[in-house]
Amino acid sequence: MTAPATYPSLHGRTALVTGAAGGIGRAICAALSAQGVTVYASDRTLPEAQSGCIPLVLDVTDPEDWAAAMARISQEAGKLDVVVNNAGIYAPASLEAETAEGFDRIMKINQFGTFWGMKAALPLLSEGASIVNLSSIGGMVGYGGTFGYAGAKWSVRGMTRSAARELAPRKIRVNTVCPGVIDTPMFYENDPAQLDAFLETVPLGGLGKPEDIANAVLFLASDQAAYVTGSDILVDGGLIA
Ligand SMILES: NC(=O)c1ccc[n+]([C@@H]2O[C@H](COP(=O)([O-])OP(=O)(O)OC[C@H]3O[C@@H](n4cnc5c(N)ncnc54)[C@H](O)[C@@H]3O)[C@@H](O)[C@H]2O)c1
Repeated sequence: MTAPATYPSLHGRTALVTGAAGGIGRAICAALSAQGVTVYASDRTLPEAQSGCIPLVLDVTDPEDWAAAMARISQEAGKLDVVVNNAGIYAPASLEAETAEGFDRIMKINQFGTFWGMKAALPLLSEGASIVNLSSIGGMVGYGGTFGYAGAKWSVRGMTRSAARELAPRKIRVNTVCPGVIDTPMFYENDPAQLDAFLETVPLGGLGKPEDIANAVLFLASDQAAYVTGSDILVDGGLIA
């Protein structure tokens, strides 16, 4: 087994991760914590305690929750070095089947939640800070049956690039990680009849692991990615190659 990469530059830093109770969020929190990062692990309900992490309730659609989280981090840590906007929902629906309520909900969580996550964190971000936003292969190509999700995840990439340019003078970097099909509860929301077909088309074979995504987040969070901003790291086993 390959030894995990180490990023000494991350030691002693402070991070906030949203959606930390989910499959990928948990793995990101564990990976950051293993590098000596103090991690505020947030979700809409209090995530289970995880070694090295401080659980926090934060609904990403609620500006008051963001304000409370930032006030607490400011008081306890004084600054924020890494923000991972990972919370998201999938809720697949075609253009024909999507409803106004469904579309609004997916935009509120996946798009507005990422917008507000970046905006709320701005005053606390240190020089050299890193924001990592979770997009998707669904934010890079089109898939039938995921209309609202695609709209939100393409938007995450657009907001990321715009923020990367705006924040570069403060040496704050903003990037996305775009997962393919990863073994978390979200993947199993796809039509069961289509799951095998999906997997058969992955050139490297099989589902990705949450840790595969966490590894890309670690790199972007670290000083090893000091010259990387406005970029997308695709972690999909070659699915859309
Ligand atoms: N699993 C995959 O195959 C896959 C593929 C591409 C992209 N992604 C992206 O990766 C990210 C993590 O997904 P995952 O696979 O871990 O899914 P998951 O369903 O396991 O976890 C998502 C987490 O987000 C949280 N969440 C939802 N709404 C929230 C809100 N309003 N406020 C705060 N938290 C909220 C949920 O409670 C959950 O803990 C998502 O942005 C997702 O779109 C996942």
